[in-house]
Amino acid sequence: MIPEIEKLLNEQVKYEAKASAQYLSMASWADTNGYNGVADFFYTQSEEERVHMIKLVKFINERSGKAIVPAIDKPRDDFKSLTDLFETFLESEEFVTAKINNIIYECLQLKDYNVHNFMQWYVAEQLEEEATARTLLDKLKIIGEDKSGHYLFDRDINTMQTTGQAN
Ligand code: FEO
Repeated sequence: MIPEIEKLLNEQVKYEAKASAQYLSMASWADTNGYNGVADFFYTQSEEERVHMIKLVKFINERSGKAIVPAIDKPRDDFKSLTDLFETFLESEEFVTAKINNIIYECLQLKDYNVHNFMQWYVAEQLEEEATARTLLDKLKIIGEDKSGHYLFDRDINTMQTTGQAN
């Protein structure tokens, strides 16, 4: 494996691990603030990010690289509202997308078409996750400060049609 690409993939392992930890923290916040549907949503998102991380770890090692399991800083847990929670979700996904796009760019520069091909799965995944985050944030903006709206959002989040990724 090209060393520069291996380094980028290992950085991506860390970003996926960070997202997994962040979403676990968000699930826990939702759980302790009475939003059980939102908690389930983020527990699931946290699991998905862990899957993204492990897929990278296995890929790096299979291609005779060396995957590095990273140290993770404590994630945010000081959310002010559901809107704050979902803004953090969208920002996190946008950050991950930018990093994946950078890997794709470097793969093309260095003619690593193998990794380029592998990363297409992540490109598709990011499209869906960003769309889900935007759709849910848009709904929260419509709801505003309405408590019964928050109640219904929490009740329905795991059955809402976003991009099919919200449950
Ligand atoms: Fe795996 Fe949603 O970043």
